[in-house]
Amino acid sequence: MKYNFDEMINRRGTYSIKWDGGQLLKDMGFTERYDEDTIPLFTADMDLPVPQPLIDALHKTVDHRIFGYSIFPEEYFEAVQHWFKKRHDWEINKEEIIYSPGTVHALNVAVRAFTNPGDGIIIQRPVYPPFTASIEANGRELINNPLICDEKGYYHIDFSDFEARAKEERTKMFILCNPHNPTGRVFNVNELRKLADICAKNDVLIVADEIHGDLVRRNQSFIPIAKVVDDVDPIITFTAINKTFNLAGLHCTNVIISNPELRQTFNSVMGMHLPSPFTVSALIAVYNEGEEWLEQLKEYIDGTMEWVVKFLAERMPKVKVRIPEGTYIMWLDFSEYRLTPEDVHDRIYNKANVLLEDGKMFGEEGLMYQRICIPSPRPMIKEAFERIAREFAGIS
Ligand SMILES: Cc1ncc(COP(=O)(O)O)c(C=O)c1O
Repeated sequence: MKYNFDEMINRRGTYSIKWDGGQLLKDMGFTERYDEDTIPLFTADMDLPVPQPLIDALHKTVDHRIFGYSIFPEEYFEAVQHWFKKRHDWEINKEEIIYSPGTVHALNVAVRAFTNPGDGIIIQRPVYPPFTASIEANGRELINNPLICDEKGYYHIDFSDFEARAKEERTKMFILCNPHNPTGRVFNVNELRKLADICAKNDVLIVADEIHGDLVRRNQSFIPIAKVVDDVDPIITFTAINKTFNLAGLHCTNVIISNPELRQTFNSVMGMHLPSPFTVSALIAVYNEGEEWLEQLKEYIDGTMEWVVKFLAERMPKVKVRIPEGTYIMWLDFSEYRLTPEDVHDRIYNKANVLLEDGKMFGEEGLMYQRICIPSPRPMIKEAFERIAREFAGIS
């Protein structure tokens, strides 16, 4: 079937953080302004309709009328195995799959399970803010291996710095974000091999957050790091239906751990979590029947990104942007305007009334950037950029 992603679905009054969370967002210091005219494009969830087989499966669950404690049936594991084999040629054994009610939850569990207070953990900033929080809130040491941005706005790994950081006595873990949020890099086989080799040589455990892995451009391919190394044992991978199928509200992450001892340690810190019947039926539906929708979604997102790049080149050429290799996030560099970050923020959030995410939240490397999530109907994205362009017009 053909999906209409241009449809504007009103999300107000549905407990959406984007559309109903104005007071909370103001209290959190995200924005000063939030009203009925705000266009919120900050958090990574989509304003787009989900696959029809998913809607049918959830209807069936609702129609049953009882929502008790649930189990993980065989079909759940088979659906995960089927998806990763088909989409990423990755064989996963059933016992390697561990359910977690969220990725950030799993990240905090991994930090507590595999490191001790005072241990060092490498991350590559600018990066998704909960990576930093999971290290600091658990009393571990943050070790930054910043990604290097070249003059074309393309991000590279600084391998010599990475190796030096990995060699430090205190370093015990590396949290990889691939595809990388917010820079959109999808690391290639050589990069992944190099990272894995350095970690193996220095006894650094890799925790790979790959939850954007299904959402790469149509001319790109994504490779799970567990697939490229000879010895997959020391790798913990996070996968999720969350980003791919816009199911953040159903809290369903699958952690893949092939090493039985690491699995046991992870489980003992996490404790037992039973799923909701909605989560189980949703996962089975999307992993078995969601491909047709995903292909259409990817085409739509690629099209929107092309529109954004063209619009900015014509109307705001000082904004540096590239089409990311993966994710549905765009990382906009405002540094050429020579305005303060506060002024950039004021023009976008208060004057244009568009809610993005200040780059500084991803680390100081992001100070002059704004992050935008673009999986919304294209007319909404166009309106947001028109408004922003008006507020920057005439600045030389
Ligand atoms: C890289 C990354 N990891 C984790 C999350 C959050 O996942 P969850 O809602 O499953 O905790 C996000 C959300 O944007 C993300 O971009």
